[in-house]
Amino acid sequence: MAYRPTARVLLGGVAAFRNVATQQVRQICTKNCINCKTTRSLSLASKAWQQHQVKEKEAVEFPVPGVPISSTQVSKDSVTVKFGDGSESPMPYVWLRDNCRCPDCYSNDALGRKYLLTDLDVDVQALDIQSNDEVLNIKWSDGHVSEYPAEWLHARAFTPTARALRRKIYALPREPWGSNHKLREFDYEAMKRDDKVLLEWLLTIETQGSAMLKNVPDRDVAGPEMIEHIAFVKQSHYGPHSPVINRPNTNNVAFTNAKLGMHNDLPQYEQMPGIIFIHCLKQHVGTGGESVVADGLFGAELLRREHPEAFQILTTTDSYFWDKGHANFSWEMDEFYKISKFPIITLNGNQEVTRIAVNNAIRDSYLDLPSNKVKKFYEAMKLFNDILYANSSTFKMDSGDLMTLDNVRCLHGREGYEAFSDRHIESSYLDWDEARCRRRRIQEKLGLLRTV
Ligand code: OGA
Ligand code: ZN
Ligand code: ZN
Repeated sequence: MAYRPTARVLLGGVAAFRNVATQQVRQICTKNCINCKTTRSLSLASKAWQQHQVKEKEAVEFPVPGVPISSTQVSKDSVTVKFGDGSESPMPYVWLRDNCRCPDCYSNDALGRKYLLTDLDVDVQALDIQSNDEVLNIKWSDGHVSEYPAEWLHARAFTPTARALRRKIYALPREPWGSNHKLREFDYEAMKRDDKVLLEWLLTIETQGSAMLKNVPDRDVAGPEMIEHIAFVKQSHYGPHSPVINRPNTNNVAFTNAKLGMHNDLPQYEQMPGIIFIHCLKQHVGTGGESVVADGLFGAELLRREHPEAFQILTTTDSYFWDKGHANFSWEMDEFYKISKFPIITLNGNQEVTRIAVNNAIRDSYLDLPSNKVKKFYEAMKLFNDILYANSSTFKMDSGDLMTLDNVRCLHGREGYEAFSDRHIESSYLDWDEARCRRRRIQEKLGLLRTV
């Protein structure tokens, strides 16, 4: 069979659609009338169609290096496929039938499954199996016929190697760090100009959870502008970015001159922002305003190893975080009242740490606990806090520095400073979904990621 597998790279597709959205936002009628809403949605559809045609023209196709099928062996619930590189994997029938590539079962435009679970028989059997170098063909007991490219199967093999590769495309392995850690530096304009530099930052923030941008323009929107260059800003009830200054009549302890213990931002949101951008427009002159940072992942692993009981308490006890107040500025929500609830250390199904939520100002005084569990909970929190400080590093950001941190992993704090200082920090946020999305697209564009 003369099958030549290809992988399609849609260069510029993401950017093109983002531009469409921006154009539409700019066209919004301030009166918000029904007519304009109709025009807007029609216009959105027609723009999208135009962009689609551009996207098709720009699509680049490249052949994926072929790993041929060398043989197959049939058993009761699966067919074992041996590949040309010596690897082999059983391919369960139920999985193969679910993932049929034919146009009835799968949309090659939308890259999504059309076949429904309702129609899937988990006991489906293969009546006939044929293969050559390039494809595996199966005739199923439900009458359907499927064809699978060798590369497609090889990439999805149920082998430790193939599974580990996919895990890395999903999320890069994190490298925990202690007190001797130095934040890697990136030039702001270079990051905007050159996708290779942007990719380096994306890889660094994903693996190390921290990086410092240097030579940042003296504009309060420089942080959000970089975030818009990557994807889009994650807003909160404080708006798209926040002046962290000593505000009279403040609505957050961060917006005072007080010392802030090390914390993660916005745990009052069930979906905490993934990455924080802390831009120092003007640093306090004299003592005060220093930053302190620590890797919560490093601290949590230390706690797990050396204080398993405290680790168990912090990973299984839900904590309330709350935030109630009124706007200080026009771009903030008039009035807000958030409550979230989750453990200080969240684990996934593999017992890996996926979120650290420490914030003394935002942690609620309500505890959903029997009173006899309260002291142990405090002891565990304090132990974790001590470990984090013992492994932290302190430095002072210069005006023009922008610290970026994985906000669900690393913690930051600041020393207090004089009340009448002109210190000015701006904070803004980017979500992890968007950062990883951009990382994969650049890797693909630079030929570093070839997925089938
Ligand atoms: C904050 C914060 C850091 C600083 O606003 O949440 O941590 O250096 N600010 O002021
Ligand atoms: Zn099919
Ligand atoms: Zn903060």
